[in-house]
Amino acid sequence: MLCPPYTRYDRLYVYHLDKKNICGFTDPDLIGVWIEDETAILFFHKEKSAVIDRLCHRCSASVVYQAELGYEEWEAGVTITSFATKTLHIRPVWEPAADIPAGEHEIILDPSVIFGSGFHATTRLCLETLELLLMESGLVVNSVLDLGTGTGLLAIAAAKLGVKRVCALDNNPLAIEVARKNVALNSCEKRVDVQCFDLMKGLPDMEFDLVITNLYKGLLIHLFDQDAFWHDSIYIVSGFIPAMEEELLAALPARKVHMLHRANSDQWRLWLLQFGADPGKKKSVC
Ligand SMILES: C[S@@+](CC[C@H](N)C(=O)[O-])C[C@H]1O[C@@H](n2cnc3c(N)ncnc32)[C@H](O)[C@@H]1O
Repeated sequence: MLCPPYTRYDRLYVYHLDKKNICGFTDPDLIGVWIEDETAILFFHKEKSAVIDRLCHRCSASVVYQAELGYEEWEAGVTITSFATKTLHIRPVWEPAADIPAGEHEIILDPSVIFGSGFHATTRLCLETLELLLMESGLVVNSVLDLGTGTGLLAIAAAKLGVKRVCALDNNPLAIEVARKNVALNSCEKRVDVQCFDLMKGLPDMEFDLVITNLYKGLLIHLFDQDAFWHDSIYIVSGFIPAMEEELLAALPARKVHMLHRANSDQWRLWLLQFGADPGKKKSVC
């Protein structure tokens, strides 16, 4: 995350260690630490070989690989800047505030090194579908569950669009830190609760009006396979490409799930599903 004196991201210095226990390590130039399985990936604003050598010595760890790259390269060649959907104006923390038309909403975001800057096609599809549902469909959505929240962008968007109770989960501790910071930046703490949760290890309470799952094929199938995942709700599902659609469709509980809407952008797909029959709701969305 950005902490003083840093106000934007420039070069990223990445060190992947073979141990996840980094002995309470902190550093003024540290952006954050990803824990992946039993390993730790440290991101810095500056070159830190000497510091990492000392850390490895102290924690009996070794460097698996290290890299230096520009923030744009990390973000797949995209420059992260302000953008807008129909009513949401998303602005990275390092850009100055702009006037927002009455009735529209600003979201301030520190994307850090976490998925969910808004510049991936799947995030954008989810944002647009959220707006369609919350602003135009006439459906009553009082609660949203955002599975794999990343930066928290979709959860914050739901809150800004009027949803009173949003639960945002992710298994990456750095995503939790970043999402909580973003929730606070947008004064959404009373509406959005961000928690660490591993969806491979269990299911949260699924009693929400709308569930957002911008994940990946293996995890989607793992969720689809569990009866307890399905509740009388609307589901936004993304994070897959056309070649995966057949396998994902086969994993849906037949006859109980209705496809309300399909969208695509680049090679990415999004489905809007409804579990449990309610033709009235179906019509209003299609
Ligand atoms: C494709 S990103 C989506 C981020 C954000 N919701 C968006 O739409 O931009 C998927 C997110 O799911 C999280 N994730 C992956 N596996 C998970 C698991 N087993 N349990 C919980 N979250 C997981 C990742 O850490 C990542 O933040």
